[in-house]
Amino acid sequence: MISNTTLELSADPAGIAQAADLLRQGQLVAFPTETVYGLGGDARNGEAVASIYAAKGRPSFNPLIAHVASVESARRFVEWSDQAEALAQAFWPGPLTLVLPLREGHGVSSLVTAGLDTLAVRVPAHPSARAILEMFDGPVAAPSANPSGQISPTTAAHVRAGLDGRIAAILDDGPCGVGLESTIVGLAGEPALLRPGGVALDQIEAALGSALHLHQSGDTLTAPGQMLSHYAPDVAVRLHAQTTHGDEILLGFGPVKCDLNLSADGNLTEAAANLFAALHKLNSTGRPIAVSPIPDHGLGAAINDRLRRAAAPRDS
Ligand code: TXA
Ligand code: MG
Repeated sequence: MISNTTLELSADPAGIAQAADLLRQGQLVAFPTETVYGLGGDARNGEAVASIYAAKGRPSFNPLIAHVASVESARRFVEWSDQAEALAQAFWPGPLTLVLPLREGHGVSSLVTAGLDTLAVRVPAHPSARAILEMFDGPVAAPSANPSGQISPTTAAHVRAGLDGRIAAILDDGPCGVGLESTIVGLAGEPALLRPGGVALDQIEAALGSALHLHQSGDTLTAPGQMLSHYAPDVAVRLHAQTTHGDEILLGFGPVKCDLNLSADGNLTEAAANLFAALHKLNSTGRPIAVSPIPDHGLGAAINDRLRRAAAPRDS
């Protein structure tokens, strides 16, 4: 939700309770973690997640990290493994994010994973972050709390400078200690370092008892933008369609007659929330997909970016 007034919450029980309440209402709350301030929204609420992208002005959908209070909570959303257990025991709570296969019935919005079948999870160590997550009792999607393309914020003042008036609240608990984002380790396949960060590589390898695969630059997994193209539908996708041709199925936007509508009201936040689930659903029909024109402003830019990738010619 875009709010006009961004509340300042303090790091006391009343502030924590209000932060959790706002998250329950689908609002956005910036809060400190030990790495950087995160911009949090309920990871199960597609419209809340869409509004994270809107507030940041992100021109494309990168998958987000789901923040949870404990290992037990993480295990509700992902397929746990011995490797995950070893790294969680060694570094959680702390600046380490694990990417694992989504678990059946996870309930996380497909906008958090950008349509992937894996989820990035992390248990932060910061006391205020932990208190909010415990009180909220659910997964919180949180990228760094800065406008897209700007520097990650390590104080509440940085957050306000970038996002004032665009989010419901900022919980101020002073500067972040680490100041560098979490290390991301992929455990869905061969263990791999996906992003260097707050926990050093050699410490992770020591805890794992084996070496991590290091992606070379240009390797598909290091660049989320490239990675997404691997999840393009199997079927052909045609954009800016006014009508369907032949066997095509129409993914609509706005008041059009179609097979599935991203948002009959022409609401871009709703459309973003529905995008990945809609692509998966239409892909499963095996029919070519035609998509109504979608305006290119606000979240429309990110929606169109994803649709262009889906429509791009494939290698195989
Ligand atoms: O320290 C941090 O990690 C901070 C604080 C707020 O927790 N968060 C953060 O989020 O840096 P963000 O959105 O700026 O970066 C998330 C990174 C992206 O590079 C994204 O591509 C990667 O995580 N990521 C998320 N889900 C993924 C997945 N399923 N597979 C591979 N990479 C994933
Ligand atoms: Mg960031």
